[in-house]
Order: sequence, then structure tokens, then C-alpha cells
Amino acid sequence: MSVNVANLAILHYPEKVLRTPAKAIKQVTEETRQVAERMIELMYEADGIGLAAPQIGLSISLFVLDVPSSEKNSPETDPPSATGDAMVFINPKLVAFEGAPEPYEEGCLSLPDIRGDVLRPPVVTVEATDLDGKRFTLRASGLLARCIQHEFDHLQGILILDKMTQMARLKNRTAVRDLEREAEHPKK
Ligand code: NI
Repeated sequence: MSVNVANLAILHYPEKVLRTPAKAIKQVTEETRQVAERMIELMYEADGIGLAAPQIGLSISLFVLDVPSSEKNSPETDPPSATGDAMVFINPKLVAFEGAPEPYEEGCLSLPDIRGDVLRPPVVTVEATDLDGKRFTLRASGLLARCIQHEFDHLQGILILDKMTQMARLKNRTAVRDLEREAEHPKK
């Protein structure tokens, strides 16, 4: 992989790479760190709380997130529901889910103007590698658990379009069609 990180930008549905399962990262290198750093920048610029590598055209198993503290979410709760700072997840695996799936309205930086309810278990345990190449485990709740599952889906080529409730799908039909049309006839 040889990437000019300055050229990376967030891609929109229906880009093919968003539907492609991402490949495992064999070794954490300086380039991995540069890509992750650039992804964190792009996420902040777009006012997002998570971004997965396929969203910037790289089919590699990496996502970043920064879930801010709020009235409902905090890095101090057990399990935490916010990050407190940016986090990098390399080759993540979801190893446990807890609780009955709950609906919550999600958006996605690759699906502008689309928001809809997605059902997900409220607590998740993720295993991943950090930028030092060390494996870590995190059990998360609240918005953090949701964000981890959303970004993990991106690495499988899954989008919220696939998981939204039927009502949300109906509500967003026109916006989805607009994105597909824009890809066929890009605005200059
Ligand atoms: Ni997304």
C-alpha cells in the first residue's frame, strides 16, 4: 500500500469500495499511523464521531472514532459510552453482544442527508489492535457501543441502508435515489 494521505477524502454511497469487505492489516506501520491520523482529521472536519477506512477509499480493516461526552454519554461510566479522545481500531472483532436490540437514529458521513433508526444491542465488546500494534479489549455501552458497531459494519461492506427499519427506509427513499443519480451524473 502506498497512499498519499493528503489526497484522501470522504466518499459517498454508492461508491463500490463501501460495499467491499475490508482486508486485515498485516502490520502496523508508519503509513498506518499516517492514514489513521488523516482519518481523524477528516472525521473532525466533517463533524463526525466515527470513520472507517473504506469511506476514504481504502479497503483495509481500520476505523477511528471520537464519541464526545454528553448528558447521556461519558468515558467514566462502566462500561464507557464515550471515548474522551480519538481512538483507533485496527483489525477489530466484535466478540460479545449484550441486551435486546434498541432503535436509535443513525447517520453516516458516506450517506449525506440520510438518517434513520437502526436496531443494535446496547452493549458490545470489541477486540482490536492499537497504533502500537498491541491488542486491546473494550466493552462499551451507549453511543460508543453503537458507533463501534456502525464502523465495524463498514468494514464488512454493510451500510445503515441495509439495517434501517422499514419506516426509515421509506422515509429516505428519495435521498438514496438522489445519491445514486448524482453518482451517474456527477455535478461539475
Ligand atoms: Ni458510516
